[in-house]
Amino acid sequence: MPLPSAPSIELAAGGAGTAGDQSAAAALPVLAQSSSGPLELAVVVPTFNERANLAGLIGRLDRALAGVAWELVVVDDDSPDGTAELLHELARRDPRVRCLRRVGRRGLSGACIEGMLSSGAPLFAVVDADGQHDEALLAAMLQALRADPALDVAIGTRYAEGGGVGDWQQQRQRLSHWATRAAQSLTGVAVSDPMSGFFMLRRAALHGALRGLSTAGFKLLLDLLTASPRPLRVIELPYQFRPRQAGESKLDLRVSWDFLMLLVDKLLGRWLPARLISFAAVGSLGVLVHLAVLRTGMLLGGLPFVTAQALAVAVAMASNFELNNLLTYRDQRLRGWRRLSGLLKFMLACSVGAAANVGVAGWLEHGGGGWLVSGLAGVLVGTVWNYGATAHIVWSRPR
Ligand code: GDD
Ligand code: MN
Repeated sequence: MPLPSAPSIELAAGGAGTAGDQSAAAALPVLAQSSSGPLELAVVVPTFNERANLAGLIGRLDRALAGVAWELVVVDDDSPDGTAELLHELARRDPRVRCLRRVGRRGLSGACIEGMLSSGAPLFAVVDADGQHDEALLAAMLQALRADPALDVAIGTRYAEGGGVGDWQQQRQRLSHWATRAAQSLTGVAVSDPMSGFFMLRRAALHGALRGLSTAGFKLLLDLLTASPRPLRVIELPYQFRPRQAGESKLDLRVSWDFLMLLVDKLLGRWLPARLISFAAVGSLGVLVHLAVLRTGMLLGGLPFVTAQALAVAVAMASNFELNNLLTYRDQRLRGWRRLSGLLKFMLACSVGAAANVGVAGWLEHGGGGWLVSGLAGVLVGTVWNYGATAHIVWSRPR
């Protein structure tokens, strides 16, 4: 099916609504009703603080998808900059625009999954709001999927002939290459850009993978490809990653941690929950914190061993709590008073864990288990207890 030529884009006339959003919405193009027929494509856009990028995004989508029966689902995680309010104003003027607002939750992947599930379209495209994905590629993705019913996913790739990462600094380029190679070799996924956030897929491909998806982090495509019960057939279409239009990237330490955990989950998830692995990794870091505090307390503070050891236990517990709150349970992070009471409950639970650790290790050693095996068994029992107990009493929101 050929894509007919571009429709006209009209500028919005005024309308009722809050004064601030009214003036901002007036700058947005109203999508001309460019096609009839059943809905074919839902463009799903995750947003966090992207208000300034909406006008440009919608104008570019409208041009790229001329003649296609499409809708726009923007999934906003309660952005403080008023992204959702602006979208509501736009949705009043054009029924093809929807805003799905999530409160108290964060996460690019989870947002995209919910956006896709909210739509009746047979095809979904995932596109960033900040202009880094070249929306003009959507027409080629759509044509590829229309032309070949056996194809499941069309991927926008930066790492094939004709693609590129634009103005990225060397460090980000190196990181991205490293992450790409790690993902390829650990998961066996053989696509050039498994970290791409820009792709189009069939509903059936989503549904097949749905229950195996992790929802954490940024790497939805990698997750889809690896969670699918049958290998997905993909086509890769090169594009140039563009500079972000307005605002800032949300890729931070926590997103990188989520990526590591996604890889770990793919490797070990069948046997161990990713959260337990993250919890154990934080705990190992806690051992280093403990030793550092113990040594400094004795050397610089002149503390007797037992006092320094008690101090080290307290500091390591507090730092473990903070890191778990930030990384392991980032999707249900405790703040304010709940963070303080969470810390106290965490210390309480871990004290019981420490007692169990010592008890089990002592019992095994007494029975002739040897110091290493007995010690490690104690650590294992303590860790599993701490994980289970804190999951219930500290981060107990239903999952
Ligand atoms: N709803 C929601 N919730 N949206 C989010 C969140 C979140 O917690 N975090 C980020 N987003 C949205 C942003 O608002 C933007 O529209 C899009 O997701 C991408 O976020 P950026 O912060 O711009 O990410 P990036 O440019 O660093 O990363 C992009 O490139 C990576 C490859 O290098 C993304 O496309 C990644 O998916 C991709 O892996
Ligand atoms: Mn971006």
